[in-house]
Order: sequence, then C-alpha cells, then structure tokens
Amino acid sequence: MDITITSKKSKDLTPAEITTMNNSRIKLWGKDAGVNFKQEDAKGEFIFIKNNNKIVAFGMIKPVKVILEKENFTILGIGRGMAIEKGKEYGRLLNAARIYHIKKTGKTAVAFTGRNNIAFFKKSGFKIKKNGIRKFRYLNPKTKELVYDNDGEMVYYEGKDLFVTKLLASKENAITDTDFW
Ligand SMILES: CC(C)(COP(=O)(O)OP(=O)(O)OC[C@H]1O[C@@H](n2cnc3c(N)ncnc32)[C@H](O)[C@@H]1OP(=O)(O)O)[C@@H](O)C(=O)NCCC(=O)NCCS
Repeated sequence: MDITITSKKSKDLTPAEITTMNNSRIKLWGKDAGVNFKQEDAKGEFIFIKNNNKIVAFGMIKPVKVILEKENFTILGIGRGMAIEKGKEYGRLLNAARIYHIKKTGKTAVAFTGRNNIAFFKKSGFKIKKNGIRKFRYLNPKTKELVYDNDGEMVYYEGKDLFVTKLLASKENAITDTDFW
C-alpha cells in the first residue's frame, strides 16, 4: 500500500487528470457526463487519493456565495466525488481529506446527493438533511431566474458560521451564486 492524498487548484489540473476524471464519469453515467472542470469549477480545489501513484478517488471543493435573510455567507460546495475502485475505503479517505480541509477553514460545507449515498456520507463524518436541496435557489445572473431542484438530500459539515442551523430555522431559502454543484 502506498496511499497519497494531494490537492490542487482547478487551473492546475493536467490533461491526464481531467481525462481520468471524465472517463470515470462517462463509464458510470454515459457519454454526456463529461465536465469542463476548469470552467465549471473555476475556483475549485481538487483532491486526489492515489494508490501506488494511480488515482483511485477524486473530489472537488469550491467557494459558493450564499445570501440568507440578507446575511452573506461563503460556504464550501463539495462535489464531483468518486471512487474509481469502489468498496476499498478510498471514498472515506476522500471525505476525511475534505473534512480536514473544511475544518481548517471554519466554514460550512454542503453537497447534494441521492438517497443511495446517505449511508456513505454519514459513515464518513457528514450530516444529512433529507430533501435539503429544497432550501436552496440558484440565482441565474443572466436571466435573473431563481432556479430550484426538488430532488436531493443535503449533505453538510457545519462550521463556525452556523449556516445550516440558520438555514433550517429560517422560513426563507438560501440564494446561491452557483448552480447546483
Ligand atoms: C459513493 C462512493 C464515493 C463511495 O466510495 P467507496 O470508496 O466505495 O466507499 P468506502 O469503501 O470508502 O465506504 C465507506 C463506508 O461507506 C459504506 N458505503 C459506501 N457506499 C455505500 C452505499 N452506496 N450505500 C451504503 N453504504 C455505502 C461502506 O460500506 C463503508 O461502510 P463501513 O463503515 O460499514 O465499512 C462511490 O460508491 C462512488 O464513487 N459512487 C459513484 C459516484 C457517486 O455517487 N458519488 C457521490 C456523489 S455526491
């Protein structure tokens, strides 16, 4: 075993790393699942779990600006998570690295996922709010439309900003500057 955990900014991703991530996505979700990470996650930081120098899991964290009841927050949006080889602890290592990073910032981190991943996130240290995606609206800057998605669990790790506590206590929704990540 020779596990390493590294991270780098989106702009520094190599063509080989991008190909590895997109091939894994396409294998799982089909030919339209490729992502232009440098564009869509321009401010993102990517985490790679490697075993013997081969990428076995990857994920991303990016700042997301949110307004809730006129209060401004910058939370951490977590996404793109995948274990290329499943059931070997690589996903949990990825989430441990995420939590390590999240704790250092003191900010709240939020991801959206499907019901089938709830157990995995709980086991690796995150909390869940069922259907929590319904508390978010993405403000499209071009159309000024408030975009929402009814279908998704909120996965979170709350920071010193107490963002989730405030969100769940509020009758209002959180307005984000970033489309569901
Ligand atoms: C979800 C995913 C990242 C999990 O990674 P993994 O490396 O297979 O998970 P691990 O081996 O680290 O598992 C850690 C624990 O979670 C459990 N677990 C993992 N996936 C699970 C699932 N789908 N349902 C229930 N439990 C799960 C494991 O059994 C293990 O539990 P234990 O503590 O009892 O041993 C991986 O299945 C994956 O890449 N899925 C496709 C992409 C995806 O859905 N990503 C999440 C997007 S939000």
